Amino acid sequence: MKIAMVGSGYVGLVSGACFADFGHDVVCIDKDPAKIDSLKNGVMPIYEPGLAELVGSNVRAGRLTFTTDLAEGIADASAIFIAVGTPSRRGDGHADLSFVYAVAEEIGANLKQPAVIVTKSTVPVGTGDEVERILGEANPGVKFAVASNPEFLREGAAIGDFKHPDRIVVGTEDDWARGVMTEVYRPLFLNKSPMLFTSRRSSELIKYAANAFLAVKITFINEMADLCEKVGADVQDVSRGIGMDGRIGAKFLHAGPGYGGSCFPKDTLALLKTAEDYEAPTRIVEAVVKVNDARKRAMGRKVIEALGGMDAARGKKVALLGLTFKPNTDDMRDAPAIAIALALADAGVEVTAYDPEGMELAKPLMPDVTMCASAYAAIEGADATVIVTEWDAFRALDLDRIKRIAAPVLVDLRNVYDPAEVRANGFTYVSVGRP
Ligand code: UDX
Repeated sequence: MKIAMVGSGYVGLVSGACFADFGHDVVCIDKDPAKIDSLKNGVMPIYEPGLAELVGSNVRAGRLTFTTDLAEGIADASAIFIAVGTPSRRGDGHADLSFVYAVAEEIGANLKQPAVIVTKSTVPVGTGDEVERILGEANPGVKFAVASNPEFLREGAAIGDFKHPDRIVVGTEDDWARGVMTEVYRPLFLNKSPMLFTSRRSSELIKYAANAFLAVKITFINEMADLCEKVGADVQDVSRGIGMDGRIGAKFLHAGPGYGGSCFPKDTLALLKTAEDYEAPTRIVEAVVKVNDARKRAMGRKVIEALGGMDAARGKKVALLGLTFKPNTDDMRDAPAIAIALALADAGVEVTAYDPEGMELAKPLMPDVTMCASAYAAIEGADATVIVTEWDAFRALDLDRIKRIAAPVLVDLRNVYDPAEVRANGFTYVSVGRP
């Protein structure tokens, strides 16, 4: 089957490459000529493990091509995916749908064969109706249907997630569109991935509800971690203890500095806006957004406390290890490190940092921070070392070496280390929600 993917960002590129790997004939389209040029040369615009290899092998097999020309790219495609960005709109937090609608218009103006138009971008309830209206108005004179097919892949694990999804959600009331979508995903039935067909509106809401629920889980355990610190309990045990209840589930109960990234912050905000518009407020999500924002700043204060409080902290030096919102990505969007660096700078603390992939994108977001060539270069002379993001490289730091070049103070915001072990090494050790 021929598939067109409009938008070659995180979701578009990974989905396009995986569809090609399934054996489909895929064209990835993007209006950014620099991005398309670099993809044609095998250079990935994002850091994602395994992506360059997957793209390379499918390009060589002739199943994956790139173009900036939408009309050419969608020619003969039976399924045309819209996977452009839906960032938070400046000022009001609504999802900005201008890119989605612009693409819908261009598809409408150029469509010459029957095709299913699929929104893969995360879009608010009702967007599919609008896309259908725009296409209808453009009056392509051929049969088309509009389906919703949200994507649940995680950055850093994108290819594995795409190929082994917990479920594939398809929202459409159209039988022909169901058939086309079943063909698109057929190879996944072999690994028993279930396909859930719903109405288009339900499918659109499923994506937001899933992300909001996960944000609730994380925020809940983060608040339990704060309580653990007060009452002398261990949040790792609490997590394990509640997660063993099948109704709760063990995943997404890892306490930390608060969630960040390209999805949870923007999708929770957009869900609040939809709920507001329809006068059905989602108060739990409202609280989660506020608590999570406050938490990122509070982590800065936690580091300052480890330095002996506000007065003692002034003029001291802190090394931040890991800046991206999570490991195995170079994505800095809404990363807790940004708020932490800001809180430290406000307190007159000098900050150095090292991240395996994120420093390029981090630089403009934290201009006061000195980026270093390695973890130990950042740690050299520091009064405290802070693990902000749990890259594997920080899981086995040489504590003796740190003691030789810096103060033995470790603030572990991801609970990577065993408190007893680190303390036995002569360190002051602060973690999240553990005595
Ligand atoms: C998320 C969703 O998981 C994915 O389904 C959706 O399609 C896009 O958003 P992603 O943003 O790539 O994916 O990252 P994820 O691994 O879910 O982590 C999100 C944030 O939550 C990170 O900042 C992470 O550090 C944090 N997190 C996650 C926790 O603090 N604790 C946890 O237990 C899990």
